Amino acid sequence: MFKRMTNVRVRSATAEDIRLLPAIEQSAAERFPPSDLPAHHAQTTPLEELRQGLAAKTLWVAEGEGAQVIGFMLCRVEGSSLHIAEMDVLPDRAGRGAGSRLLEAAFVAAIGMGLRSVTLTTFEHLPWNAPFYARRGFQPVADLSDFPHLGAALQAEAVMGLRRRVAMVWHPA
Ligand SMILES: CC(C)(COP(=O)(O)OP(=O)(O)OC[C@H]1O[C@@H](n2cnc3c(N)ncnc32)[C@H](O)[C@@H]1OP(=O)(O)O)[C@@H](O)C(=O)NCCC(=O)NCCS
Repeated sequence: MFKRMTNVRVRSATAEDIRLLPAIEQSAAERFPPSDLPAHHAQTTPLEELRQGLAAKTLWVAEGEGAQVIGFMLCRVEGSSLHIAEMDVLPDRAGRGAGSRLLEAAFVAAIGMGLRSVTLTTFEHLPWNAPFYARRGFQPVADLSDFPHLGAALQAEAVMGLRRRVAMVWHPA
């Protein structure tokens, strides 16, 4: 189902990783056309949220060659879902499977935690957003009342001025 990269390894984040993550997120944000993500929206995830993910063991990093940290995924438990709050891969390391490996980690963790789904919000029209997730088994959420955290996330994003956002969900087979 996933393309494999022998030289990418996903592991739980450590405290030492945290300081590397804002720069990765900032570089990844540069992929977005300014019409989708105006510069003033491109703030990085607060360190406190990353530390919360570390404590909850819902923060993962992808390592490339030489154990360089090239990407990360921050999740949190929302109801019976593991929600992907942030996922980024360095642009010059993207498109080689690191994002897919991070998603696999979320699927494995959700199943291991006895959760019913993995959720996220994303841009519906960018090829490395909704279409990418759809190819990995995510579906658009039909009824937001089943996932109050997704309704809240979309609302907050709309207030920030983001458009063409969609909520998606993955269920274990
Ligand atoms: C989303 C993201 C984390 C994926 O990481 P990645 O390491 O590139 O993931 P993979 O290599 O496993 O797969 C990338 C997919 O996007 C597609 N893709 C990537 N760049 C693309 C581009 N410029 N045009 C078209 N498709 C593109 C690839 O075709 C691939 O899909 P496929 O294997 O089904 O064909 C990474 O693209 C990223 O950091 N993007 C910017 C930040 C972002 O969008 N975060 C997620 C917000 S919900």
